[in-house]
Amino acid sequence: MCGIIGFNGSVNAAPFLIDGLKKLEYRGYDSAGIAVYNGNKTVTEKRKGRISNLASAVKRRDDMCGNLGIGHTRWATHGEANDSNAHPHKSGKFTLVHNGIIENHTLLKEKYLPLCTFTSETDTETVVHLINRHYSDNCLEAIARTAKLLEGSFALAIICEDEPETIFCVKKSSPLLIGIGNEATVASDISAISCKAEKLYRMDDGEIAAVTKTQAVFYDFDLNIKEKATSQFSAERSESEKNGYEHYMLKEIFEQPEAVRKTVEAYLGNKENTLPLINKPERIFIVACGSAYHAGLVGRICIEKLTKIPVTVETASEFRYSDPLTNASTPVIVISQSGETADSLAAIRKAKENGATTFGIVNVPESSIALESDYVMYTKAGTEIAVATTKAYSAQLAALYALAIHFAQIWGTEDNTVLNNLKDALGKLHIKIREALGCEEQMREIAQQLATVQNAYFIGRGIGYALAAEASLKLKEISYIHCEAYAAGELKHGTISLIEQGTKVFAVCSPNGLEAKMQSNIDEVSARGAQVIAITDSHKTKADITVHTVSATHPLFCASTQIVPLQLLAYHTAKFRGCDIDKPRNLAKSVTVE
Ligand code: F6R
Repeated sequence: MCGIIGFNGSVNAAPFLIDGLKKLEYRGYDSAGIAVYNGNKTVTEKRKGRISNLASAVKRRDDMCGNLGIGHTRWATHGEANDSNAHPHKSGKFTLVHNGIIENHTLLKEKYLPLCTFTSETDTETVVHLINRHYSDNCLEAIARTAKLLEGSFALAIICEDEPETIFCVKKSSPLLIGIGNEATVASDISAISCKAEKLYRMDDGEIAAVTKTQAVFYDFDLNIKEKATSQFSAERSESEKNGYEHYMLKEIFEQPEAVRKTVEAYLGNKENTLPLINKPERIFIVACGSAYHAGLVGRICIEKLTKIPVTVETASEFRYSDPLTNASTPVIVISQSGETADSLAAIRKAKENGATTFGIVNVPESSIALESDYVMYTKAGTEIAVATTKAYSAQLAALYALAIHFAQIWGTEDNTVLNNLKDALGKLHIKIREALGCEEQMREIAQQLATVQNAYFIGRGIGYALAAEASLKLKEISYIHCEAYAAGELKHGTISLIEQGTKVFAVCSPNGLEAKMQSNIDEVSARGAQVIAITDSHKTKADITVHTVSATHPLFCASTQIVPLQLLAYHTAKFRGCDIDKPRNLAKSVTVE
């Protein structure tokens, strides 16, 4: 997590740094800081809280004028969010910002810095003291010597008062990009690279770069100069706007039909990457985190139904430390919006160690997971800014449907007429998702009542259970209401003891032949006083409130229409509770630490 930025140009750096940090704020937003070399020395300003706090503090200073600077927006890992733990950190003439985790910082501190005074609780401060300790008169040497000692993940931007024409960058495992034009910018992602940049470089692991106003020179950690090719600018470089919506999350919910249409078109229309022809495997793994894992739960049902091949779905944090039974004949599908989730990236690496073929289903072009997967399917959700994912999740579902159909086709596990019907249905699915958005007013009314409760439950069976899991996560992460998702048949094995008069239970009744079983579960909780809200495309359910969802173009794709009311429910509940919807507490959009 954390976002880093650097500017080296001919105008005042501070406004650019603040603006860049606002674009990177999705990566972490509990504190922020900038450092600017003002022609005489490096001056620093750091503030707990949002970038706006930092911006006001910077405005009040008259010594923060200079053309070279670095900045950071933080998601705390080592030490609480406060002014002194905020980056940049300083030692002697060096000031630096860091994204990642230095795993051996305690050892380094004990071995090399026993007498050093630390002013923060961060792992990062060790790095700047080490550089300073290694420095006599050559910045690059001091940085390279330090980089070789570091374990973990790090993207660093460093400035030194003795070389105020240069930003030094170091990368291992955390992303870092450099844009060069007649000014240079350095950033964790493309959104914060200057629009004046003509050349873009994506740093590789084990690289150091010396970035002046007009060029970047790359080295390995032994300081051998490296030839480096430029990268393409992606089409999504322009800043995303709210376009009249009050929050990015709402805008992104309404962008779902387009996200699904574009994703389906890319793979069913065969416009770009043709999906790979791989041999029929014994078993398939799907690995992901959070909502992407929930998309995987739906993917499993679709792939198993169409291919009859067993699919195991695992959270990446468990998969990476297990002894997964993967081998050359068990493809591993890793799903990730950001393409940078540390556990998911580690899962790809683990799967490859075992000889498995890896598929990334990724939204962010050229992200680490996309680059490291053997095959990549890009979801076409566009930039997602709200921390709680909506359109990327929907695009992941669409990609998984397309992959399931593709597998069934190449392995001959399903009749061609069935597959052609499914393709036809998938091609039209976005139309039904658009119709599903029409339930907003009803969901707003239900949300108004939900906003006052402490707990809620989501139950479902099959795809309905996968949806219950996603709906529960969405509601808890943005409204802070405690909620749980259960396979509907499981509730009576313990949790039903929590149901009392008025407890809200959302029953996600997917069209999977288990509607009667769901009705029994609704009856069980109703009998104990629960207020049941059924989400269903059938008109038969007996519940206190029924939300009639739009039927998908095929029952196998019902998750795509039934998730819409549940997302709107979470959004409006959080809004009634006055929560910070796009930036919920304690979270960040891109989870680049494990
Ligand atoms: C929840 C949410 C997270 C992410 C998870 C994985 O709304 O967004 O649960 O789904 O952190 O992130 P990616 O997909 O970037 O790997």
